[in-house]
Amino acid sequence: MNRVFIKTYGCQMNERDSEAVAAMLRARGYRIVQDENACDVMLLNTCSVRDMAEQKAIGKAGYVAQRKKRTPRFILGILGCMAQNRGAQLLDALPDVDLIVGTQKFHQVPDHLDNLRAAQAAGAVLPTRIVDIAEEAGSQNTIKDHLLPQDEAGRAGTPLPADAAASGMAALPQVTAFVSIQQGCNMDCAFCIVPKTRGDERSRPMDEIVRECEELADRGVREITLLGQIVTSYGRRDYQHTGGVSPFVQLLERVNALPGIQRIRFTSPHPRGFKDDLVAAYGRLEKLCGYVHLPMQSGSDRILKLMNRPYSRERYKQIVDDLRRVRPDMYFSTDIIVGFPGETAEDFEQTRELFEACNYDMAYIFKYSVRSGTPAAAMGDQVPDEVKEERNQILLRLLEQNSDRRNATLLGTTQEVLVEGPDKKGVQFMGRTRGNRIVHFTAHERLIGELVPVKITRASTAVLYGELALAGVEQ
Ligand code: 5AD
Repeated sequence: MNRVFIKTYGCQMNERDSEAVAAMLRARGYRIVQDENACDVMLLNTCSVRDMAEQKAIGKAGYVAQRKKRTPRFILGILGCMAQNRGAQLLDALPDVDLIVGTQKFHQVPDHLDNLRAAQAAGAVLPTRIVDIAEEAGSQNTIKDHLLPQDEAGRAGTPLPADAAASGMAALPQVTAFVSIQQGCNMDCAFCIVPKTRGDERSRPMDEIVRECEELADRGVREITLLGQIVTSYGRRDYQHTGGVSPFVQLLERVNALPGIQRIRFTSPHPRGFKDDLVAAYGRLEKLCGYVHLPMQSGSDRILKLMNRPYSRERYKQIVDDLRRVRPDMYFSTDIIVGFPGETAEDFEQTRELFEACNYDMAYIFKYSVRSGTPAAAMGDQVPDEVKEERNQILLRLLEQNSDRRNATLLGTTQEVLVEGPDKKGVQFMGRTRGNRIVHFTAHERLIGELVPVKITRASTAVLYGELALAGVEQ
């Protein structure tokens, strides 16, 4: 009766929150299972950023709730952003949900589950429900536990693909980890629900973050991704700039100084956080990977203003150029919204032009989705769906061309790859380049966690294929 399945929707922050909930539950004696058909508790950790994400989770919850007819003690919980956004209202659409937990209350999930199970065991006749979406001071400090992956025998490491596990191999070490550094956002972009779902900006103490990274390094983690809704604003109310260096860059410096850590990434930043100190950090912090996710949203100054994004297309392009000057081989990705209210053909043309000029390696292109309660929801001039779709397709085609072009330049080169573990099929191994490209290659298990040179021999749009370029090392 203690098997928990957690399904995560949305961003890396949600993945990290789910992982922390799993760690807390495991410490409380629950079992985290991978098979959703063999669980006693299902938790959906949800996303609200677009309507589609909410509809998906609501559909799943409605479907899964039918299990309660067969198994009355089955517990269904909704966690995270949609829980925060819709609260107890969710019960109108989903009366069989037992647990609703907001974004500042993840650490309460074990207590709530214990209480629900105790009520069931005591034979509660009426359904017992818990809705917990209050704000909580200091909640940004509660996402710190990591789920040390375990094999069936309880040994630490990354779960193996099924056939390798069946052959009795021990679990493999975890090489990459997400570390939460701040939560919430005060930027008030006109389209965005996040200030409502994640609350005000709150940062974790720098010493605690560094200690967490150190502990992860001791367990074999080599690559850290610092996470937050607006990481570049990290610590701005809690720490001073020192010699023109922002608290975020100070944190990067400290993680860069940790001996076990080989690579640092972060997401998501805001363009306005790319002042000279951060740009210069790419020139002096050797572990900082040359891959920047830089959300542009729109290339039209008029639309950027309506979106309440505090930069111009010119300033945006200047950041890209500055970063390319410091690191000529910098990789860029971005977020774009097409069809923001009032976006004309000329506005979109400006976006298309800037998109092409920046030559992205990766992009997340979204059709504007009305989020009730945000300023943009009340704006006139909503763009018809067909127009959004057309603009979406234009950018997707450009992205594919860019990606193919980049892949062509990589063919035949040797890239530094951090070996993460077996690929999904368990046939080869996989890792990433510093530019965040996934590479598949033949290797030996003992290379997991190592930086190795891989010669790129073949490419599909999403994955590169290569061969270890280690003279004299048995593969
Ligand atoms: N509609 C479409 N896309 C959105 N995003 C945020 N809000 C909306 C919305 N209402 C996108 C932005 C953001 C990414 C996480 O999601 O591009 O950077």
